[in-house]
Amino acid sequence: MIETGGNGRTWLLTGAAGSYALHLTDRDELVHLHWGPRISLADAESLAAEPPPPYWPFESQLDGREEYPVEGGPRFVRPALSVRTPAVRGTEWRHTGSATDGDELRLRFADPVHHLGLTLHYRMRADSDVVERWATVAHDGPAGALGLELLRADAAAWTLPRRERWRLSQLHGRWAAESRLVRSDLAPGEKVLGSRRGHTGHQHLPWVALDAEGATEESGEVYGCALGWSGSWRIAVQQLPDGTMQITGGAGHDDSGLLRLAPGGTYTTPVFAGLWSDGGFGGASRAWHAWQLAHVIPDAGRSRPVLYNSWEATGFDISEEQQRALARRAADIGVELFVVDDAWFGARVSDRAGLGDWTPNPDRFPGGLKPLADEVHGLGMRFGIWVEPEMVNADSDLYRARPDWVQHHPGRTRTEFRNQLVLNLARDDVQAYLWEQLDGLLSSAPVDYVKWDFNRCFTDAGWPGEPYPQRLWTEHVHALYALLDRLRAAHPGVAFESCSGGGGRIDLGILSRTDQVWTSDNTDPLDRLAIQHGFSQLHPARAMAAWVTDSPNSQLNGRVSSLRFRFVSAMAGVLGIGGDLTGWGEDEIAEAREWVDLYKEIRPVVQHGELYRLRAPDGGLSAVQYVRGDDVVVLAWLQAQHYGEQQPPLRLRGLDPGAAYACPDTSAVHRGSVLLHRGLRTALRGDLDAAVFRLRRI
Ligand code: GLA
Repeated sequence: MIETGGNGRTWLLTGAAGSYALHLTDRDELVHLHWGPRISLADAESLAAEPPPPYWPFESQLDGREEYPVEGGPRFVRPALSVRTPAVRGTEWRHTGSATDGDELRLRFADPVHHLGLTLHYRMRADSDVVERWATVAHDGPAGALGLELLRADAAAWTLPRRERWRLSQLHGRWAAESRLVRSDLAPGEKVLGSRRGHTGHQHLPWVALDAEGATEESGEVYGCALGWSGSWRIAVQQLPDGTMQITGGAGHDDSGLLRLAPGGTYTTPVFAGLWSDGGFGGASRAWHAWQLAHVIPDAGRSRPVLYNSWEATGFDISEEQQRALARRAADIGVELFVVDDAWFGARVSDRAGLGDWTPNPDRFPGGLKPLADEVHGLGMRFGIWVEPEMVNADSDLYRARPDWVQHHPGRTRTEFRNQLVLNLARDDVQAYLWEQLDGLLSSAPVDYVKWDFNRCFTDAGWPGEPYPQRLWTEHVHALYALLDRLRAAHPGVAFESCSGGGGRIDLGILSRTDQVWTSDNTDPLDRLAIQHGFSQLHPARAMAAWVTDSPNSQLNGRVSSLRFRFVSAMAGVLGIGGDLTGWGEDEIAEAREWVDLYKEIRPVVQHGELYRLRAPDGGLSAVQYVRGDDVVVLAWLQAQHYGEQQPPLRLRGLDPGAAYACPDTSAVHRGSVLLHRGLRTALRGDLDAAVFRLRRI
């Protein structure tokens, strides 16, 4: 809900439990008033009437108060907007109008010197406390006017209230070690996270959370900000001299040039979403999850199937017969979606060749993919394939025909990673080629699922002949989004997974057009607990793909673990199987079938329930709990038992203290208040033990 007061210059947005308020002064300064629990319009108006901070000769009266600080004028904070022509740098705006459209507030400004139009967008939905913010920049000048260089255009600047001791939570990592949660105290100055790699990156998820008064998992105030962008990005957290916190975020890492706007050109920033919560880190996560399930992830109400993926089993050495054999075994244990990974196309027998040529390898699939797809369908499963459309190997028909289609700088090395180069998706001809290839592929065989990979970063991201700043960085992402949107519209039955060497492309932008993401190439079930713990801070289990692979772990560390531990670890998200099923004994197949059956029973609770992190994975006992209506599922893992000590009972959350809860496996009945206060006993012991507990309110 949006309310307007103060002569049309004060706005109050109201969500499920929180409010956000802003005000336009009579000098057209857009100042922040409030972000936190609900207040009334009268409260917002009296905040707006407070005098500005006192004048000091070396301080700005605007810094730390503005909703969207621009470069220029009496400001010293990091600007959200930086624009120049050859003649003038910086922005001086005047307000030109405002509009509300349902839940969305639009505030318009213009800088006549630059012919610049700027619109700030805000949206707070009735069922959530997430505030979605983004900006549109337009060159409104006449034909022939000077082009504008957009050096930086952030989506938003968030202002947090003054507090004593701010703490930052972030999710950092690298390949095979993504999304690991780190908390640190903030000091005056700036902390900058981001990616200058062309994709979201394994190094940081585009998310920060800040708490000031020692929030815990289930209590205290937490602010969070998350960016919906799958290219290079930056989030800068700034603690100003007076203790105010300001957080800016947007596309691109540096301030040296995002793109060039000709007269009539526009640029829309990604969404930078912000959340205030007073339910601790767990409450904040649940609010983020609910918002993504309701408003971001497509078809989120539909459960994701149990999948099989052949990558760890077969690598590049694949054949139709071998895939058929795996498919039969997968169907036997209850898999619902069979995905052929890399190496089914072109001359792709290793990572040295074939990317770019999206037709089935005639030696491996003489009749194309259809015969295998038909067999998979006949076994009662859906059929999926792997693609990596944005890339090309130098050894490919595509590159031989179109060497100019890759990102490159004239006369410079074309750096290869994994023997591949990045196609320049900003080019219309590349977009047309990919559409034709992928649309053709999805039309040629009954494909139900596409795993869309991206296995290297941008390095030599140049576009010969294009003026600087080159739009290739932003347009690559827009072209990717457009391609996915068009494919989804043309093939509505096909689901998409976002992968980038594991979790290198996980963000709200890609999640708004894919059905799930590949969390990490690290399928070691123990490492995964920490990765999943981090992932869950922002994103729901419904989007988090997790596979059970072989033991000893073949990809990474040789760790030996039981099927039980591997399954319970992967059951915390969208369960998949990624081991070499032809090497599993009959007893393992039978046990796997039981786990898959159990997963299907608890799946509605895991994928659509509310998540409570009961204990973080830190070497001992860890556990998560999901609650959906009357159903409760607890997954618990013990890394190592010491001194023969019993594990402490798990204090459950989100239950009705007055109700009784029955366990269908043991027939035991527990009182809600006991489960909440004393806790659930687990009997986990030894090393790498795990268990699933089901409870139902009676
Ligand atoms: C990436 C993915 C893997 C697999 C390989 C195939 O590394 O993360 O899951 O698909 O590519 O080459």
